[in-house]
Amino acid sequence: MLKYIEKNRERFLNELFDLLRIPSVSADSNFKSDMLKAAEYVRDRISEAGADRAEIYETKGHPVVYGEKIIDPKLPTILIYGHYDVQPADPYELWNSPPFEPVIKNERIYARGACDDKGQFYMHIKALETMLATNSLACNVKMMIEGEEEIGSSNLGAFVSEHKDMLKCDTILISDTSIIANDVPSIETGLRGLTYVEVEVVGANRDLHSGVYGGGVANPVNVLCEMIASLKDENGHITIPGFYSKVEELTPGQRAALNSAPFDLEEYKRDLGIEDIQGEVGYSTIERTSVRPTLDVNGIWGGYTGEGAKTVLPSKANAKISMRLVPNQTDEDTLELFTKHFESIAPASVKVTVTPHHGGLPYVTPTDSVEYKAAEMAMEESFGKKPIPTRGGGSIPIVALFEQELGRKSILMGFGLDIDALHSPNESYGLFNYYKGIETIPLFFKHYAKLKK
Ligand code: BES
Ligand code: MN
Ligand code: MN
Repeated sequence: MLKYIEKNRERFLNELFDLLRIPSVSADSNFKSDMLKAAEYVRDRISEAGADRAEIYETKGHPVVYGEKIIDPKLPTILIYGHYDVQPADPYELWNSPPFEPVIKNERIYARGACDDKGQFYMHIKALETMLATNSLACNVKMMIEGEEEIGSSNLGAFVSEHKDMLKCDTILISDTSIIANDVPSIETGLRGLTYVEVEVVGANRDLHSGVYGGGVANPVNVLCEMIASLKDENGHITIPGFYSKVEELTPGQRAALNSAPFDLEEYKRDLGIEDIQGEVGYSTIERTSVRPTLDVNGIWGGYTGEGAKTVLPSKANAKISMRLVPNQTDEDTLELFTKHFESIAPASVKVTVTPHHGGLPYVTPTDSVEYKAAEMAMEESFGKKPIPTRGGGSIPIVALFEQELGRKSILMGFGLDIDALHSPNESYGLFNYYKGIETIPLFFKHYAKLKK
């Protein structure tokens, strides 16, 4: 297999480049036709890799690509999940090269989606091709590559429950997460959930002269800032009543294990260009970014933001606020708690509305399962080092739903790095990581088939 990968190295990269050239931004309707183009490209490559079946399924949103190769119904079946949609590339001016014209620099592929998730799910298509071409496919494969992950996968839940038979599998394998470093392989054993809301604070029925009315009427921008500031106390604890009531507290042993993963605070600060870190008192950076919930403003606007100065008392202010959730919080409960609290702290001088966006449940997977063992053995074989279990801070909303709908756990065998700049300008993915993934995935199949026997 290694020989086959080596021989086809160039083509494996060129095909990914063609995929990266399609600007499949799910959030922006200007790119709707590119979404279909990307789905067709993925379908055709799955088919070329040797699948028996590769199709596009329409949904209420962007299409889902599904393909399969069933070699023997008695063998275990692995469902591969990934997403062909990407985050918007804005702000374009901060990119050193255009986001949809992939280039290689310093052994890295630069493009929107290079890592998240085109570069990572495409490894699975090339791994499938490699296993089939070398007669070494050890399990049945199903592939579901969706187009709405970056906007909350809101139509995928229905798709999964309508196609339970088609998606029936023994386990789910996903490459959409990160490792600690190229010489420190790791496997994420958890994801955080998400509650995302938009809030609006409205004062007077029109914008006002800030001299004539200033001081006498509520300024919604000031009020919104005060309300947001009050959502955390001086220890970085979230003040919403009941917010922590279901939060799972880790045992001292679990905490020690998490904190034993390599982490260099100085390097972390240097990479981000910050003098100091910040967060909930009593928890390490690793814990704050994985097993503790958060509340963050993602965007805030209101009033005059054009050139020069305008003396105005704006009539409204808005913010987008997200909360990352950990076991056993739910997005529904959290939405209710937030809404009730936010409305209750609004002064009578303004009106407040809370509008929910997408959400998702947190997820954890044990390290003593067959699929975890298979991933561990695969990575140990390809990296030459046993991977460390970690807990991820990001969210992949469908993973908890897979468990509910298909009754199957997912394995998060990702190959990205923190420096890949996901969702940021100049996103990149290491060539090392791309080829290491293609090499490791067949090993997962091999070990999984053996362990399942
Ligand atoms: N691949 C990421 C999630 C991720 C990144 C997990 C790195 C662990 C490590 C995924 O594409 C993502 O960005 N998810 C969104 C979900 C949201 C839009 C519902 C997220 O986490 O913000
Ligand atoms: Mn992703
Ligand atoms: Mn993402």
